[in-house]
Amino acid sequence: MVYIGLLVLSLLPFSVGRQEPLGSALVSDQYAVTATPAGATKSIAIVGAGSGGLAALKTILDLPKDVREGWEIELYEQRRDVGGVWLADPPGKLPDPPELPETPLYPLLHTNTPHPTMTYPHFTFRPGTPLFPSHEYLWQYHVDYADHFNLWPHIHLNHVVSSAAWRGDNATGEWEVEIHAQVTGGCQNETRAFKKTFDHLIVANGHNHYPYIPAWNGTDEWLGNTPPGFPEREILHSIYYRHPEKYTNRSVIIVGAGASARDAVLQVGPLARTAYQSLSEGSEPPPEAQVITKPRISHFTKEAVVFIDGTSLDDVDSLILGTGYEFRVPFLSVPRSNVLVTDPDTPYNSTTAPALTSNLRYIFPLHRQIFNLAPTLPTTALAFVGLPVLIANAPSDAAQGLLIAHALANTSLLPPRDEMLRELVAHEDLLRLKGLDPYRVGHRLLGGDTEAQDYQDDLIDYVKKHGAIPDDGQKYVEQWRRTGRTLSRLLARAWKRVEDRGEEARWLDGVETEDEWAQLMYRLAEWQEEWEKEHGESANPYA
Ligand SMILES: Cc1cc2nc3c(=O)[nH]c(=O)nc-3n(C[C@H](O)[C@H](O)[C@H](O)COP(=O)(O)OP(=O)(O)OC[C@H]3O[C@@H](n4cnc5c(N)ncnc54)[C@H](O)[C@@H]3O)c2cc1C
Ligand SMILES: *[C@@H]1O[C@H](CO)[C@@H](O)[C@H](O)[C@H]1NC(C)=O
Ligand SMILES: *[C@@H]1O[C@H](CO)[C@@H](O)[C@H](O)[C@H]1NC(C)=O
Ligand SMILES: *[C@@H]1O[C@H](CO)[C@@H](O)[C@H](O)[C@H]1NC(C)=O
Ligand SMILES: *[C@@H]1O[C@H](CO)[C@@H](O)[C@H](O)[C@H]1NC(C)=O
Ligand SMILES: *[C@@H]1O[C@H](CO)[C@@H](O)[C@H](O)[C@H]1NC(C)=O
Ligand SMILES: *[C@@H]1O[C@H](CO)[C@@H](O)[C@H](O)[C@H]1NC(C)=O
Repeated sequence: MVYIGLLVLSLLPFSVGRQEPLGSALVSDQYAVTATPAGATKSIAIVGAGSGGLAALKTILDLPKDVREGWEIELYEQRRDVGGVWLADPPGKLPDPPELPETPLYPLLHTNTPHPTMTYPHFTFRPGTPLFPSHEYLWQYHVDYADHFNLWPHIHLNHVVSSAAWRGDNATGEWEVEIHAQVTGGCQNETRAFKKTFDHLIVANGHNHYPYIPAWNGTDEWLGNTPPGFPEREILHSIYYRHPEKYTNRSVIIVGAGASARDAVLQVGPLARTAYQSLSEGSEPPPEAQVITKPRISHFTKEAVVFIDGTSLDDVDSLILGTGYEFRVPFLSVPRSNVLVTDPDTPYNSTTAPALTSNLRYIFPLHRQIFNLAPTLPTTALAFVGLPVLIANAPSDAAQGLLIAHALANTSLLPPRDEMLRELVAHEDLLRLKGLDPYRVGHRLLGGDTEAQDYQDDLIDYVKKHGAIPDDGQKYVEQWRRTGRTLSRLLARAWKRVEDRGEEARWLDGVETEDEWAQLMYRLAEWQEEWEKEHGESANPYA
């Protein structure tokens, strides 16, 4: 790494954040340590400017001015803009494995849920947004949110948090955070490294970034044995999936039944020479998919892909692995830090874990998937936003952010650690009673929309019950959101018909407020129901 001196940096015609000027130590390979500004009463670092980080920032800024007087609040985002997974690849070639792309986003990506149900409270998508929008609208929505709530002064783009270490014990201490800032401009592009201390760390680094790739026997032998005249064999995780045309006239196995696998099946299926979907027992392909289903893969031989039922395929060119992601936070883990132990075979559980632990599916022990309960640091020192899966993220992120904001403002708001730990253990026991292993289910809210909505309501009810915000007697998740979620599939079929008829503008005319979006969903659902009574269900493209 090359450092240009302070003088040159200070002449660069752009801002790289609001850090204190750097000492000459930077010219060498050392780091400048920047202290919290004198007089700051509390300092908070947020990592990530996706849905989660933006929500945390906004809810903290919403605290009454006198409460957050003197707080220093900095959000670090490693990429060139806000939006997280919804910010498309940078221009240029997609990296090859093992290097990871910045986002799993692919050009044909649309939401699979109607956008009014995906919003932050009281902040709608722009008028005219299609009900199941393509990814550009989602990115724009995040930019609009940052603009509207004036979040930019706190956001540092092109800033990678490379490590965060806790200096202290479970009662007191501070974070030492190491940051690498990409400085661009003129004819100089430099990485500037510095360290900064914070009282609180909020992690919103997303959980669609570290692919889970099953370890099958024989993949190397299979990959090295492409028959002459065929495209080179490949096995790629869906994080690398971009263009279905690549698979034209190829024989492809799509592995998995999650959202990524379903999209790949629907997009690649019609172009492939043959498309297979490898599914666990009980999973089904999308109804209109053109695929041959296979069971789970057992292993590979030099010639073939072998399935657990003993059948095999020797005509396969490519595999797309929609096998999901791992929960990792590299900047909290060895070798960068020792706050989070990452171990798929950990012998520990929530009561015995000596440190915060990820078994790659589940980070534990945490209070309501947010606050650290490990005995190595105070509970409010570390909070996560956006861990729950199978939930509309933005409203959940905002609910989590609200609890975090008030817990940071008043450290007596949360119950004592042992009480939170008992609650967690009771929750894990409840899952076991339902036949589920909490350490495998991880952060997935498998109880469907009801569990996902109750989760958010409980967070906000807690804040209300303790007087931190007024109790208006209302549930946090409004009825129209609940109904909208249950109508998702019907609405997807309805919207497809609207698009086929070219009637988007007519339906969206005059729809702006939350209430108007809710009414639109109801009208569309009714219109579709009536049609389906007569014609039956049409195929659901967004299922
Ligand atoms: C392909 C795909 C389709 C989806 N479709 C839907 C959908 O239709 N409906 C729905 O409700 N949800 C959908 N989701 C879920 C989606 O992930 C959430 O809606 C939400 O956008 C996640 O936001 P996040 O902030 O938690 O994480 P992310 O969006 O991943 O943001 C995390 C941010 O943290 C930054 N970061 C990470 N590490 C560091 C570091 N060390 N230093 C600095 N910055 C860092 C990253 O660069 C990133 O910008 C989809 C997800 C994917 C991957
Ligand atoms: C500096 O970075 C910018 C943005 O990433 C890029 O467009 C530009 O070409 C780079 N300049 C040099 C000299 O590398
Ligand atoms: C993989 O193959 C090796 C050697 O052939 C064998 O010893 C091992 O048990 C296999 N592993 C699995 C998971 O099948
Ligand atoms: C499709 O691929 C097969 C096998 O590689 C090849 O024989 C055939 O000519 C291809 N067809 C077209 C239309 O490209
Ligand atoms: C804090 O750490 C000490 C010493 O490791 C331990 O005895 C104590 O139980 C911990 N307290 C909490 C609340 O975790
Ligand atoms: C902090 O929270 C506790 C617990 O709910 C409450 O009793 C106390 O009044 C709160 N303090 C302030 C300053 O709001
Ligand atoms: C954790 O493990 C210990 C020891 O194996 C066991 O006694 C305890 O009940 C477990 N707790 C939970 C929450 O599973």
